[in-house]
This record gives sequence, C-alpha cells and structure tokens, in this order.
Amino acid sequence: MEYTLRDGRSSDLDSLWRIDQACFPPGISYSRLELAVYMRRPGAFTLIAEQPRPKLKSFGEQPGTILGFLVMQEESNKVGHIVTIDVVGNVRRAGIGSRLMMAADARSRVSNFSSIYLEAMVTNLSAIEFYKRHGYSILRTELAYYSDGTDAHIFSKDLLSSPVTQ
Ligand SMILES: CC(C)(COP(=O)(O)OP(=O)(O)OC[C@H]1O[C@@H](n2cnc3c(N)ncnc32)[C@H](O)[C@@H]1OP(=O)(O)O)[C@@H](O)C(=O)NCCC(=O)NCCS
Repeated sequence: MEYTLRDGRSSDLDSLWRIDQACFPPGISYSRLELAVYMRRPGAFTLIAEQPRPKLKSFGEQPGTILGFLVMQEESNKVGHIVTIDVVGNVRRAGIGSRLMMAADARSRVSNFSSIYLEAMVTNLSAIEFYKRHGYSILRTELAYYSDGTDAHIFSKDLLSSPVTQ
C-alpha cells in the first residue's frame, strides 16, 4: 500500500477526530475539543499516514486519504507522551502503526527526549502486543484510569538505553 507520512495540520482535525471515534468506544475516544487541544499544545506534533489520491486533470490536486495518525506531546522534562495512535480498521496489520511509531521515536531522539510514555487499556491486547514489539514495557498499572472503570497500563520506553528501531 502506498502512503507517505506528513505533519498534521489544523485542517485535519475533523478527519482525525472521526478516525478516533471509530477506534474507541464513546467515553474513551477524545472529544473534538480534547483532540484539538492536544494537537495545538506547545511542543506537540501530529504525524499522519496518508494515501495520495490520483491526480485528476479536471480537479487538480485532491486531498489524500488518512490511514492513521499519532499525536505526541512533550512534557516539561524532555519526556515524550504519545497521546494516541490510531490506524483505520481496514488497513491495520500492514505496518502503518509501526511507521508512525518509528517516526515519533526518531523525532523524539532529535529533540533529545530521554523517554516516551503512553497509556493503554489493560483489555487492549493488540495495542499491548504492538507496544511491546516497539520496545515499550509496563511501568505500572493504574486502577480505574478510564471513565468506564477500566485499568490502564502505563508503558514507557527509555530512549537513552534502547537502540533506534528500523
Ligand atoms: C494498535 C494499532 C495502532 C497498531 O497499528 P497497526 O498498523 O495495525 O500495527 P502494525 O501493522 O505496525 O503491527 C506491528 C506489530 O504489532 C503487533 N500487533 C499489531 N496488531 C496486533 C493485533 N491485533 N494482535 C496482535 N499483535 C498485534 C504485531 O506484533 C505486529 O507485527 P506483525 O503484524 O508482523 O505480527 C492499531 O491496531 C489501532 O489503531 N488500534 C485501534 C486504536 C488503538 O487501540 N490504539 C492504541 C491506543 S493505546
């Protein structure tokens, strides 16, 4: 599948919010406002995996189709926080999430982050497997972290001691 990575723009917000709504149940997915706030925070960046649309002579350049995205923010002490990573349902398991994680990892290293952390529902077995595959390990488990009472694993990756993943 052909796709490229690019930085998110404020005009992507509606598409990203719709993808997030489809990825997570109500109450767990972000509201449009929450997502906008995370994306606009100082030190935050959004990475987007996008499939280009074929150029049509009559319409010129068309916007691409977003296949997945990742929102990362910088905490005050050079620690990165992955706010969310979402890949559209019918294109999962094709390496898109991994490309986004590796790009976020590379950018975090350029910014001299010492580590990255993120949260995952203890019931989200595919995400847990995915994060372990990317060198994350469980730091602790927070009880009833989510609004529906589900516990969260807090995952972390030490960038200073872990190799760059390809
Ligand atoms: C988690 C998520 C981002 C992974 O994205 P993806 O593009 O499907 O992941 P990749 O194709 O790069 O997978 C890389 C590896 O992660 C692991 N993995 C990914 N999905 C998995 C699944 N459903 N079950 C088991 N392992 C899985 C595998 O080791 C996989 O390698 P393999 O396909 O060679 O076995 C995607 O499933 C998703 O968007 N889920 C819904 C939103 C979500 O839960 N986000 C995380 C919030 S904490």
